[in-house]
Parts: sequence; C-alpha cells; structure tokens
Amino acid sequence: MCGIVGYVGAGDAVSVLVEGLSRLEYRGYDSAGVAVLNGRGVETRKLAGRIADLRDLLARDPVHGSCGIGHTRWATHGAPTERNAHPHIDCTGSLALVHNGIIENANVLRRRLEQDGHDFRTETDTETLIHLIEESPGTTLEARVIAALEHVEGTYGIAVVAEADRRKIVVARRGSPVLLGVGDGEFLIASDASALLGHTRSVVHLNDGDVAVVTADGYRILDREAREQDRVVEDIEWDLDAIALGDYPHFMLKEICEQANTVRSTLRGRLLAADGTARLNGLNLTARQCSRIRRIVIVACGTSWHAGLVGRHVIEELSGIPVSVEYASEYRYRRQLRLPGTVTLAISQSGETADTLEALRAAKATGSTVLGLVNVVGSTIAREAEGGIYLHAGPEIGVASTKAFTAQVVALLLLGLYLGRQRGLSVQEGRALVGQLLALPQLVERTLAIESEVRSLAARFADAPNALYLGRGLSFPVALEGALKLKEISYIHAEGYPAAEMKHGPIALIDENMPVVCLAPRDPLYTKVVSAMQEVKARGGRIIAITTEGPDDLGHLADHQIAVPAAAPLLSPVLTVIPLQLLAYHIAVLRGCDVDRPRNLAKSVTVE
Ligand code: AGP
Repeated sequence: MCGIVGYVGAGDAVSVLVEGLSRLEYRGYDSAGVAVLNGRGVETRKLAGRIADLRDLLARDPVHGSCGIGHTRWATHGAPTERNAHPHIDCTGSLALVHNGIIENANVLRRRLEQDGHDFRTETDTETLIHLIEESPGTTLEARVIAALEHVEGTYGIAVVAEADRRKIVVARRGSPVLLGVGDGEFLIASDASALLGHTRSVVHLNDGDVAVVTADGYRILDREAREQDRVVEDIEWDLDAIALGDYPHFMLKEICEQANTVRSTLRGRLLAADGTARLNGLNLTARQCSRIRRIVIVACGTSWHAGLVGRHVIEELSGIPVSVEYASEYRYRRQLRLPGTVTLAISQSGETADTLEALRAAKATGSTVLGLVNVVGSTIAREAEGGIYLHAGPEIGVASTKAFTAQVVALLLLGLYLGRQRGLSVQEGRALVGQLLALPQLVERTLAIESEVRSLAARFADAPNALYLGRGLSFPVALEGALKLKEISYIHAEGYPAAEMKHGPIALIDENMPVVCLAPRDPLYTKVVSAMQEVKARGGRIIAITTEGPDDLGHLADHQIAVPAAAPLLSPVLTVIPLQLLAYHIAVLRGCDVDRPRNLAKSVTVE
C-alpha cells in the first residue's frame, strides 16, 4: 500500500508533491520519487529511502514545473531499490506513472509487451501499465489510459502524465483509494486527505471504475465508456493540526495520550441518559430491522479484529444476539452462508483494508445487511456499507493503532447498548451503562497518568527476546492487542493467549527469561487469572500484572504491578490496554526502533 500524489496549478509542483508525500509516508516508506512536466518533457527523480532523502536529492538536483506526480512505496513486487521506485516511464520517456495496488496479470502482460519490443527496466508489476498506455490507441491521454486498463486485472490507484499533454494528469481507480483536491486555481490528487490539507479541504472521492482528467482549469470524471460522471465535493472535517506532531516525539505517543479526548469524541451526542440508550443515526437500522437480527458476523484484520473480539462479548452480553468474529482475509474465501437476519459488521480504522472490504462485499452478495465501524470519513468501506458508526477519533498516523482501538471498543459498547435496549435490556441497566460511559473519559485521563511508571518498567524488559500476554474473558483480546503492539514496533516476538489455555502448551515456554504480562482486572474472572499467575510463578516466570486500583493482593505473585482505575467489566478493555500501548512504545524507543514507521509495515493494507 503506497501513497500517490499529484499537482497541477500555478505553483511549484515539486514542493507540493514532497509535502504531500511526507504526509502519506505512513502508507509505505521504502522508496519514493516524483515526475514533473518541466516544459521540455517529463523529468523524474527517485530513490530507495525516505521522503527526507528525496527532499535532499531534489535540493541537490532540482526539477521545476507546475504539473507533476509523486509516490511513496511499500514494495510488493520487486525489492525496494531506486530502479523499482516509482514513477515508472515508458520506452520513449514521454509518459510517467505512479501506482498504488497490485496488477495480478502483470506477468502475462509483460511477456506480451516484451515480445512486442517493449524494454522493461524494473521487476515491478506496475511497469506493465506504462508500457500498455504507451501502445494503446487514442488521441488523448485519457483515451489511451482507458484503453490500456481494459487489459488489466487487479487493483490500482494511478496517476499518469505525458509530455504531449503539458498540464494534465489522468487518474484512475479500482480498489485503491484516490481523492481529488479542489483548490483555488490548483488541483491535487492523493491516496488520502492528509496529503491535501495544506491546500484545500474540498475533496472528491473517486469510485471504482472512475477515470479523472485533471488540468489547471478543472477536472472531469469519466467512466470506462468515457461518459461524464458527477461526483460530490465533500469537506474534510479535520485540519492540519490534527496531523501535526506538536511537542510529542512520536505520533504513537501523541495518539495514546489523546485517548481521553478521542473517547469523548466517539461518545459525543450519542448517549441518551433519560432513555438509557444510545443514538446511532448513521446505522440506518429501524427498530423492526433490529428485532429481526438473528446473528452478527464481525469481519476485520489486525487490531480491528481484536476490537471485534471485545465487541462479541459486549454485544452478546447486552443484546443476546450471537456474534462471530472472523479474520476478514479468511472469511472472504470461505463459503458464504445465506442466512436471514444476518448483519455483517466490518471494523476498520482506515476503511480501506482490502481483505475487510472484500469480506464485506462477499457478505453483501449473500444478502447480509452490511455495516461499517470506521474512522476515516468517506473511505471505501464507509461508502459501500449500508450504514455504520464513525469513530470520530481524528486521523491516526502512527502505524501501530492505539486510539482507534479504544474508540472501536467504545463504539461497540454504544452498538451493544443500542441493540440491547431494543431487545430486552431494561432502562435501568441502560442508564447504568450510560452513566459508566459518561465517566469513562476521566478514567482514561487518570490511567494515562501511569506513563512514567510504565517508562521505568520498560527499561527492565527492553532486552527480552520474547514475551507472553495472558488474559481471560474481555481481557483475552486485550492480551492479543498488547502482544501485537510489542511485536509491531519493537520486533520482540510476543504472544497473547487465553490465560487458562496456557497450561495446554505455552507454559512450556516459561522460565526466568520469559516476561509474562497478566491482565487481572477485578472482574468475575479475577481469581481464575490469579491461579494462572501462580502457575507462571511456580515456573520462575517474571510477571507484570495489569490490575485495578485497590488492595494489593498480588504482591506475592507479581514482580511488577500497574494499576488502572476501577471500571465496569465491559469497559475495562479501554483502560487495561493503555499500559500495554505505553509498554510497547517505551520498549521500542529504548531499542531505538522507528516507532511511527516500523519496518515492513504500513498503515493501511490496501492490497491482498
Ligand atoms: C495495527 O496496529 C496495525 N496497524 C494493523 O494490524 C491494523 O490494525 C490492520 O491492518 C487493520 O487496519 P484497519 O483497521 O485500517 O482495517
């Protein structure tokens, strides 16, 4: 999943492109480049490395023009080298292209194009596109792009420039997100809105199959038959400050520390205290439809999948509706069961994760009602779902998801409350939960006060080769999430496990070198977790206990304890995950890891 940008207007394209790429770097950061129409032809600058390196290259070897395209890469086909970096150019050097996605029939196309004499310079799937456009018929660039795409299988968000069309960019989308930025006498192209905000907040989301022709005078959107299409111009609700690092050393720490406010934003305007219920207008579900729900299937990936596991507990507990939680990547290829009363809920921070999007589409095809629980407004999952809940957590830049997880859990609590009140949860029970949710942001604030405690604890475990996270009930998904955070940013191998399952295998791993993080909030399963801690202690394991403020009855078992404020069991994951986010963060910092750009990862996985 790469980031693409484009600019045409009166200004200096290169500075706008580099600014945009630096904001998209969380999408992929192993190589980068730009191509600019400089009045004499197409000029490219590219390298293996970060946007900062590209900026240095352009300072040493500048290129000027008012129309250009740029790219930051997450390599899928071909190593992250200068040669494989985008933009790619055709045999004549008069066409250049950047691409986000995967061309699935690239090998077949390449063989044919090479037989036709095209000279391939890279190992990428993308290069086939520029040679296809090069040989496609048409008097305009857009006609040639449309003709070329007839032969392409796979996903793409592309931007193309040509020497022959001096102030024009042709953009096309299938599967990968692309937006147009409508500015004042200038137009921009980007994979997401963060790259545009310095110039405009007015954007046009392209749909699959759209081809946009962008010039300094305006833009036209065509379909595959070159028929004009209308698309709405929407305004982005957040501004540049939301994506500024401020005084924080990393976006991840900033986003962890924002969680009291993001939980407030997710709750804002959605709690009806008197009725003891939630207001979720975006769901588009009538009371009648709610009463007919027979099962809920949650589809998601990564951290969102962990939130889904918490969601299962919450929704089953509050509404009695059976919930299954599926890895979207597996679910999309399983036989889809056509069962009446099925609601499929796609959980995704970015709203662009390919596997989750395809699982949603597969469910839709079998007649399931499909809903989205998404953070990015206007993203593909949000637009393809029949209804949903926006998290309003603001942009999440750190690749390791943090505030989106707690916002997802809060949104699932709202959904459970809403459905529960339609299916037997009493107004008293509803009011109690509303009261607890209203108090939650403050409890999050108090929890964040443990940061310095966790920082010193991190120093004791920064050299650990492995780690085990244990939890029961609602804490099991939190254990999984804690382990994922540590893996993602510190590269320490870590595993999350249901505490009672430990004795069926992982207990063999335990010795004095194995840190074991035990989630032991004071809930109905507390004593069960204490038994598991005794089993760990008996094998010499080093225990970090995440527990609830109160009498210290774990001192004899735990080597280290972190206490979070007491909360109702259903809400505890929002609090107990925070010390785990901070622990992973501080360990990664101590190990000198690039916390916001962990190796091999990207923020939004838009390819399969
Ligand atoms: C989490 O820290 C990771 N970045 C990753 O597992 C992520 O949760 C997953 O790719 C799903 O992303 P989404 O929520 O945007 O769909």
